[in-house]
Amino acid sequence: MRNVNLDGGRTKVVDLLKNGQPDSVVTVKGWVRTKRGNKNVVFLAINDGSSINNIQVVLDPAKYDEELLKSISTGACVRVVGKLVASQGSGQSVEIQGKEVELYGGASPESYPLQKKGHTLEFLREIAHLRPRTNTFGAVLRIRHAMAFAIHKYFNDHGFYYLHTPLITASDCEGAGEMFNVTTLNLEELPRNEEGKVDYTQDFFGKHCNLTVSGQLEGELGAMALGQIYTFGPTFRAENSNTPRHLAEFWMIEPEVAFFEIEDNMNLAEDFLKYLIQYALDNCMDDLQFLAKMYDGELIDRLKFVLENDFVRLDYTEGIEILKNSGAKFEYPVSWGLDLQSEHERYLVEKHFKKPVILTNYPKEIKAFYMKQNDDGKTVRAMDVLFPKIGEIIGGSQREENYEKLLNRINELGIPDKDMWWYLDTRRFGSAPHSGFGLGFERLLLFVTGMANIRDVIPFPRTPNNAEF
Ligand code: 4AD
Ligand code: MG
Repeated sequence: MRNVNLDGGRTKVVDLLKNGQPDSVVTVKGWVRTKRGNKNVVFLAINDGSSINNIQVVLDPAKYDEELLKSISTGACVRVVGKLVASQGSGQSVEIQGKEVELYGGASPESYPLQKKGHTLEFLREIAHLRPRTNTFGAVLRIRHAMAFAIHKYFNDHGFYYLHTPLITASDCEGAGEMFNVTTLNLEELPRNEEGKVDYTQDFFGKHCNLTVSGQLEGELGAMALGQIYTFGPTFRAENSNTPRHLAEFWMIEPEVAFFEIEDNMNLAEDFLKYLIQYALDNCMDDLQFLAKMYDGELIDRLKFVLENDFVRLDYTEGIEILKNSGAKFEYPVSWGLDLQSEHERYLVEKHFKKPVILTNYPKEIKAFYMKQNDDGKTVRAMDVLFPKIGEIIGGSQREENYEKLLNRINELGIPDKDMWWYLDTRRFGSAPHSGFGLGFERLLLFVTGMANIRDVIPFPRTPNNAEF
């Protein structure tokens, strides 16, 4: 086998700080975070993205060209070769005594937007192309990676298959009509049929298509063959809600499992979330501690608290009673049938139970067509997992596996069943009880990082009026 080095001809800062051998000669490559010093000595703090921590480089200015040293300012990218030594100063265990410095790319102090520290998160959103170079976004993006990896690991370890569901679809899984159109028709000159409506038969796919709001419907097809699958991909919702918890493009994880009743589904959701939180605590502690220090002092305690407690399992109807009797003032008044808002969800979780809550058996009117109908004729076997600070983090259900009942519901809701024949076929051929849920990846990241705005846990957020980067 060919022996390849994948580190770009350098030692990563994370490895130097953890396992660096004093007196060895090392090469680091990275971006200057700070530069300070005087006529006799220059200190560079270098970050290469491998860790929240920087490595300190000490230079003797007498040994370098003055112009070169001037060009090495905050934001510049450099290569440094030097000797790793125990650090004299506090704050780091080792540092590099520089012997050779090369400037890859400068960053003019007059125009580099991250010249100074302490920018607001709002400002950083305006420079989303550069914000990965800040400590905050380095930490968030490393945690995001770790969580994505842990999600695949969890499912792989449990024998689930990763199913790639399409992003372009002709169906509206959630029935909310909040979809982005996909078309190659000329919008300035739309072809019309005899009734004057847009003639989508002339469109690229020969029909009206949109970006998917969920991979679930196709996920169910997979589960009815492979037994247990999960999807993990982008989903798109054209809901015009400018909140700290909504994106127009977000990532969702959707497991779907044959032979699962709603209780099994709840057990999976709870075990899965706890696994991911434990994984973050085990693998991302430096970044978590940084975020806790900067933004949310209770972050790590909150993560541990979720691990240590059973999630409360509660009927929607009981939840409504609790809210009614709470004496709390809500913007949206509480009565049976209400589609719970974040204020209600957070009351149950943060004030009443002080634990995550799985709410089940919602009124069928406020839930999607595919959910299994209960015998009471009023409720469906839905389950939402509600988390502190977030509200709904997971939405899921047992699915209606009975062909007639499902078809009736589709007709009741006026969903064109000509679009649904393939989905209905699963109930005609070898139908089985099955369940699944969707975890919003960025909602998970809000919880794990303690960040307050969903725009700050995805590299390039898509929200109304915002698709610059
Ligand atoms: O509750 P939702 O709409 O459920 C579904 O889409 C189902 N098809 C899932 C399934 O059963 N397979 O969305 C699931 C989760 C929500 O709980 C929330 O965490 C997240 O997706 N989510 C959003 N995250 C960010 N921005 C948005 N606009 C979101 N809408 C939903
Ligand atoms: Mg939902």
